[in-house]
Amino acid sequence: MYDHIASSYNALHGAEQQRKLRALLARVMLPKGAVLDVGCATAHLSSFFSDREYVGVDPSQPLLDLAPAGVRVLCARGEQLPFSDSAFPVVLSLTALHNYSDFRRGVEELFRVCGDVCLVGVLKKAPASHEIVSLLKQRFSVQEELSDQHDFLLVLRKV
Ligand SMILES: C[S@@+](CC[C@H](N)C(=O)[O-])C[C@H]1O[C@@H](n2cnc3c(N)ncnc32)[C@H](O)[C@@H]1O
Repeated sequence: MYDHIASSYNALHGAEQQRKLRALLARVMLPKGAVLDVGCATAHLSSFFSDREYVGVDPSQPLLDLAPAGVRVLCARGEQLPFSDSAFPVVLSLTALHNYSDFRRGVEELFRVCGDVCLVGVLKKAPASHEIVSLLKQRFSVQEELSDQHDFLLVLRKV
């Protein structure tokens, strides 16, 4: 779905997505340790985590091919993450869940691989946005809930 805009992804969406992440990071003290970015596109958000291990996952190889040099990325779907339970203290997924063929499974996978904090953006105009937010709130504890022009933004905790 995003393959055809891969080369212009950062110019089209980069600044907006970075604004969302800044808003979330302002509300949370992250635990130490690795970050998993699910639905990472070009892994452009990796620049926020240069002080720690970052792993990006996306099903679009053309987007992943544009990841910054040296950044670890993997072609996989959020419904089936190739990681063990609680493998990442921090999990991030911005504006991606509405694209999944099975977002229920996607929420379960975010919860499974998360060790502590999960930062999520859900596209407001997506038909399933309220259902996705509700599933996230059932699974995780909500630490902060905010909203920007386009997304519901959630700081979630596993405990
Ligand atoms: C609007 S972009 C957001 C990308 C990135 N999170 C950001 O903030 O820039 C949506 C992303 O979801 C990815 N995506 C689509 N289906 C997916 C799935 N089943 N699992 C994980 N990511 C998926 C797309 O390839 C695309 O990179």
